Amino acid sequence: MAPKSFLTACLLAFTLQIFFSHTVSFSVSLLSNSNESSSMEGLIKLEVGCVNHPEDVSIVVRVRFIQLLEMGLLKVSEEGVKVIVPNVSFANDVIEASDGTLYFTVSSTKYTPADFYKDMAEGNPYGQLLKYDPKSNQTTVLQEGIYFANGIALSKDEDFVVIPMQKILAEGQSQWNINPFAENLPGEPDNINLVPDGSFWIALIKMNQTDVTAIQNCSENWELLDAYPGLISLLLPMGSDGGARVVKVDGIDGKIIGDFNDPNATYISFVTSAVEFEGNLHLASLQSYFIGKLPLDAPNPELATI
Ligand SMILES: *[C@@H]1O[C@H](CO)[C@@H](O)[C@H](O)[C@H]1NC(C)=O
Ligand SMILES: *[C@@H]1O[C@H](CO)[C@@H](O)[C@H](O)[C@H]1NC(C)=O
Ligand SMILES: *[C@@H]1O[C@H](CO)[C@@H](O)[C@H](O)[C@H]1NC(C)=O
Ligand SMILES: *[C@@H]1O[C@H](CO)[C@@H](O)[C@H](O)[C@H]1NC(C)=O
Ligand SMILES: *[C@@H]1O[C@H](CO)[C@@H](O)[C@H](O)[C@H]1NC(C)=O
Ligand SMILES: *[C@@H]1O[C@H](CO)[C@@H](O)[C@H](O)[C@H]1NC(C)=O
Repeated sequence: MAPKSFLTACLLAFTLQIFFSHTVSFSVSLLSNSNESSSMEGLIKLEVGCVNHPEDVSIVVRVRFIQLLEMGLLKVSEEGVKVIVPNVSFANDVIEASDGTLYFTVSSTKYTPADFYKDMAEGNPYGQLLKYDPKSNQTTVLQEGIYFANGIALSKDEDFVVIPMQKILAEGQSQWNINPFAENLPGEPDNINLVPDGSFWIALIKMNQTDVTAIQNCSENWELLDAYPGLISLLLPMGSDGGARVVKVDGIDGKIIGDFNDPNATYISFVTSAVEFEGNLHLASLQSYFIGKLPLDAPNPELATI
């Protein structure tokens, strides 16, 4: 690894308005007010007024990065914007391996990003995990039938990828072994980011699963949601009642080893991404005009172990 001073590191906020992850088997649906999590007291606001509801945050080293838009899988660098995979309409998150291979998620092959709530209302698994090989310019589908595929992370040793509640290990060129991962989180997992020590931070979304199931059970409700998309905020509290929670899970089986919770949105709400960098946790939120920064080595944080 190059010396830190050599790297021009900066924070970059993505403003992609796609956030929720949805699974049918999910049991604990609302962010619980466990007394074993740490508060977000001490949160520092970065870039106030410079970002508009950022959904994701990345650490960019030497200004070379990849971003996704509705138009497909795009690469954004100093040279400009290049379309890498043109024919995906709802790419959500991407991770680059050291050999240049890209692993990315498509949230829905049926609905567009603007209609994400219809995917939730229907409740069928239209998501995919894909792999792009830069040498052959070929894109292959590694897994289909995922419920609203959302965040993705690559393990420290690049021997598996993690998407919400699944750990997918490579076994040879085309064999993939799927295992459950971090299944009983106290919220709906959104973005997942690797920590240098091999664990992961996962941002959790608050969602009333009873209401979601009721919508899925009744197709008239889909039409209602179609006519009044604003109703989505009843299922997915985005305002001050939204709260914020991020958990750190180990890289083995996804057990929770750290937990920050702001249930009443005192410091920040609707956090969709948490990235650890140089002793700080950087939080992106769909409800804010800033990036949250939580110093992890502050005198007080006592990361809870559950
Ligand atoms: C809070 O933590 C204590 C000690 O671990 C435990 O006994 C208690 O049940 C917890 N309360 C709630 C509401 O989770
Ligand atoms: C994109 O289009 C190419 C050529 O039509 C096709 O081979 C490929 O499967 C498509 N990829 C996806 C992800 O739909
Ligand atoms: C890669 O493949 C896509 C079709 O999937 C095509 O549009 C694009 O031009 C190709 N790029 C290169 C560099 O061949
Ligand atoms: C979820 O919504 C249902 C019906 O609207 C409500 O009765 C229930 O209290 C909500 N659950 C929580 C934990 O707020
Ligand atoms: C949805 O339907 C299932 C099976 O038809 C039923 O068990 C469940 O109670 C329903 N849930 C809601 C919230 O309507
Ligand atoms: C959140 O608000 C509820 C209701 O007002 C209160 O009981 C609870 O103590 C608050 N929790 C925190 C962590 O501020």
